[in-house]
Amino acid sequence: MTELSKSEAAINEPSVASPAPSSFLEVRDLKVHFPTDDGLVKSVDGLSFQLEKGKTLGIVGESGSGKSVTSLGIMGLHTAGQYGKRKAQISGEIWLNGTELLSADPDHVRKMRGREMAMIFQDPLSALHPYYTIGAQIVEAYRIHHNVDKKTARKRAIEMLERVGIPQPDKRVDSYPHEFSGGMRQRAMIAMSLVNNPELLIADEPTTALDVTVQAQILDLIRDLQKEFGSAVIVITHDLGVVAELADDILVMYGGRCVERGPAEKVFYEPRHPYTWGLLGSMPRLDREQQERLIPVKGSPPSLINIPSGCAFNPRCPYADVPKDNVTRTVRPELTEVGGRHWAACHMSQEERERIWTEEIAPKL
Ligand SMILES: Nc1ncnc2c1ncn2[C@@H]1O[C@H](COP(=O)(O)OP(=O)(O)OP(=O)(O)O)[C@@H](O)[C@H]1O
Ligand code: SF4
Ligand SMILES: [Mg+2]
Repeated sequence: MTELSKSEAAINEPSVASPAPSSFLEVRDLKVHFPTDDGLVKSVDGLSFQLEKGKTLGIVGESGSGKSVTSLGIMGLHTAGQYGKRKAQISGEIWLNGTELLSADPDHVRKMRGREMAMIFQDPLSALHPYYTIGAQIVEAYRIHHNVDKKTARKRAIEMLERVGIPQPDKRVDSYPHEFSGGMRQRAMIAMSLVNNPELLIADEPTTALDVTVQAQILDLIRDLQKEFGSAVIVITHDLGVVAELADDILVMYGGRCVERGPAEKVFYEPRHPYTWGLLGSMPRLDREQQERLIPVKGSPPSLINIPSGCAFNPRCPYADVPKDNVTRTVRPELTEVGGRHWAACHMSQEERERIWTEEIAPKL
């Protein structure tokens, strides 16, 4: 056995040592690695979080930080999509309503998709089949989980299209995806995701391709439907502003790991990680001039094949030299609690971070 296949074997055998958690969704030490010709891409590298029913978690991070791979992993779809040629290595535990998904029978997980968990994909065209009408696709999604005739399912499809704000739903139900605008397709996909009232809804960048008004409508819609069905929702975005209002908790991802997580108002108003400060600094603000709006975090996201040693953020962090003995470049900081249910992974002392945030960062935002 080669080194790689040895580790592959180990990582593909999920061990369920720990008991079922009390949380509705609990992700424990999730790793999703992709073997490629250039090396192992560690897209998600030890991610843990919990989510309760009726609550919303916002996952935020730059492009390539592992947000979509995380959600595809939860859905059991990490091998699908644009890459998916080689077997992904996945390990850790994903508990959904008492079932551990990584060690569960794939047929069982397939049956859970749609009803127990559903996803709004980043690109609606990839989720909708071009050759079938919108209605036919929603009908199919409904009938997988409900033993009803086509007429009943069609009625349900029209009802759902109406719920998501598609005008003349009884006519549009027979349209093909290409006959819909981007915003309408997004709504149709949401209708399809919600047709079975999923208990967990993952919305991956549900708004990026849409104009601001439609964005707001879609987010309102997710909120309304969540209230109605009491679902747990994960909203994935690179824009902290989107989740600041919508989410109960926020998880900030960097290089496949969580660098900060906690109640939304804490992460937003008392962030304790320099990367989160950077994200807040790059947020569009209505009271700023257009050219001042985007101050991106300087530098580029890390390579997921050669993740920087120590703190992965160190090459871009303006405070990398604050902690003594070069520790930021040699020792990976673990998440530590910085307040009630609020964690951050940084070697700077909490006092130091509080001071920098209050005196140097917050006044400039
Ligand atoms: N099957 C795969 N094989 C190799 N690399 C992959 C595979 N799937 C994803 N990746 C890589 O994993 C990293 C994380 O990807 P992911 O799609 O999760 O990012 P993201 O945070 O959703 O970014 P974005 O905001 O652009 O959607 C990227 O560098 C991507 O290229
Ligand atoms: S550990 Fe060091 S490099 Fe990483 S965020 Fe904290 S100060 Fe910056
Ligand atoms: Mg993505």
